[in-house]
Amino acid sequence: MEKYCINGGKPLKGSVTISGAKNAVVAILPAVVLSEGKCRIENIPNIADVTTVLDILSSLGATIRRVNRNTVDIDPTTIYTHVVPHDLARHMRASYYFLGSLLGRFGKARVPMPGGCDFGVRPIDLHLKGFTALGAVNSPLENAMIGVEADRLVGNSIYLDTVSVGATVNIILAAVRARGVTIIENAAKEPHIVDLANFLNSMGADIRGAGTDVVKIHGVEHLDGTTYSIIPDQIEAGTYMAMAVATHGDILVKNVIPKHLESITSKLEEIGATIEEFDEAVRVSCPGPFKHCNIKTMPHPGFPTDMQPQAAVLLALAEGTSILTEGVWDNRFRYVDELRRMGAQVQVDGKVAVFQGVPHLTGAPVKAVDLRAGAAMVIAALAAEGYTEIEEIRHIERGYENIIEKLRGVGADIRRVRIPDSMLRQA
Ligand code: UD1
Repeated sequence: MEKYCINGGKPLKGSVTISGAKNAVVAILPAVVLSEGKCRIENIPNIADVTTVLDILSSLGATIRRVNRNTVDIDPTTIYTHVVPHDLARHMRASYYFLGSLLGRFGKARVPMPGGCDFGVRPIDLHLKGFTALGAVNSPLENAMIGVEADRLVGNSIYLDTVSVGATVNIILAAVRARGVTIIENAAKEPHIVDLANFLNSMGADIRGAGTDVVKIHGVEHLDGTTYSIIPDQIEAGTYMAMAVATHGDILVKNVIPKHLESITSKLEEIGATIEEFDEAVRVSCPGPFKHCNIKTMPHPGFPTDMQPQAAVLLALAEGTSILTEGVWDNRFRYVDELRRMGAQVQVDGKVAVFQGVPHLTGAPVKAVDLRAGAAMVIAALAAEGYTEIEEIRHIERGYENIIEKLRGVGADIRRVRIPDSMLRQA
């Protein structure tokens, strides 16, 4: 086990290059199952979740060759089974995308109940409702395995009661080779939905409307191999933007799509940041104090829930009272206790957190309770006076490529240190 050791209080300055989007790649790699030819996927972030999805593909029988750190060749024609093994799937949420893709390819899929970050109840009823509408039958949970099966998938109209990224992805995956037309209404509009559709269309699929709330999928018989490059990670970019603000620094965040960052940019400007947009970069600085601000997370194009903990650090340091409302998940404030250990003054009532800004945070031993909460701890530690140790960093490394190297590149004093076994036994 390892931890991060951070000496805070230094303004971060320089440039950082954003990696491929985690939430796009974890949908696109399972989608490769549907192809009848070899695929080359570029701009893949080198993170633990990608390793897990590639391991799942391998376990299904796909032939995988790492071309370099960020490019893989995958031959899915050698896949021989529709069953995803337990030990791999339980590490991440997106393992359930193999339900849609294996169902689309084999007419059946068995996938363990997924793992991933704990934000309270994370149902999959809408995914199953979608599969059923396409003609599949769900078998009862057996040994914590979800099973779906169909003689023939046939297109249908599906209305999602709640905007769900996962259900939108899974229904697209199942529908892309179904007979006839599938229409998903009240679909999620996140950039990674568009990226998935672009990837599938590059293989010969016929998907229109991705990025709007109505996605129309004309089923096709065959999908060919393709070469495709993953979009930059909106949330990784937002995290480094928040780091620039939190440390009163000045960072050029490169390899981004500024349009994807609009909701983040707008709130950071309200807090007091100066943001300059270029074609594929944003420059973020914040010399002055932080102004109080209210934020509510919403599905895209609203402020992303996956930036909520990172934004919380800024509100903890903003003058006056700020209100942060979580509009997507039931229980996404578990990290607040850790922020309090660093001096934040915050009250949580259900899905609302009220911050009374403090002039500074102070270094403390804390832990990452989940991926983005872990990123928030890194931001808090970089902004804080003094020394912070962050434990349970495995959550952070599920989603941030080369975080230590990238942060050192902008002047952060951060180290990854092994926790001796003797210390673990005491804990
Ligand atoms: C994805 C992201 C996650 C992000 C979330 C919201 C991936 C791998 N993960 O998660 O980082 O926080 O979108 O932007 O892309 N819901 C139901 N029934 C369902 C499915 C979802 O009620 O069948 C509800 C959930 O409880 C939640 C809301 O819909 O309240 C949104 O969830 P969803 O968009 O599905 O999140 P994920 O796809 O799991």
